Amino acid sequence: MLTAGWDTVRLFLHVLAATVWLGGQLTLAALVTALRAVGAAAPKAAARRFNQVAWPAFAVLLATGAWNVVAEQAKDHGAYRTTLVVKLVVVAVSGLSAYCHARSRSTAGLAVFGALTGLSSLSALFLGVLLAG
Ligand code: HEM
Repeated sequence: MLTAGWDTVRLFLHVLAATVWLGGQLTLAALVTALRAVGAAAPKAAARRFNQVAWPAFAVLLATGAWNVVAEQAKDHGAYRTTLVVKLVVVAVSGLSAYCHARSRSTAGLAVFGALTGLSSLSALFLGVLLAG
């Protein structure tokens, strides 16, 4: 049996938070039609409840992401650094667009910021796997 160390804990927490942040968004998006059928207020109630777990997960992503950067300092040059910088921009877009999505009152705003949140979160996931690979 392999042994677990602090690197395992660090990546476990980072990936766990990513599953909540991104997996929750995808699941909620998939459920919107079914929730609308339950009642007009149901999607909003579900989104509000999701926000209560999504933002703590985003905070864990930022904290464990900083931990990743410190732990992988030796790799932080050249193509790795460029990929990391692009990932940080994408993470910032993910957080900002999720914030705008949650505050949006128009259908267009909800759609644009919702799509941007999903795309940027997916890109962050991809770039994370690229960094760890
Ligand atoms: C939406 C936010 C984020 C998502 C979805 C995400 C996702 C991931 C995933 C899936 C991995 C690969 C883990 C593995 O395969 O073992 C990873 C690795 C990594 N992430 Fe993130 N991440 C996010 C935010 C951040 C932030 C804010 C930082 C930096 C402050 C960061 C820095 C890193 C680094 C350096 C690695 C490579 C770790 C290693 O090689 O040990 N991530 N990320």
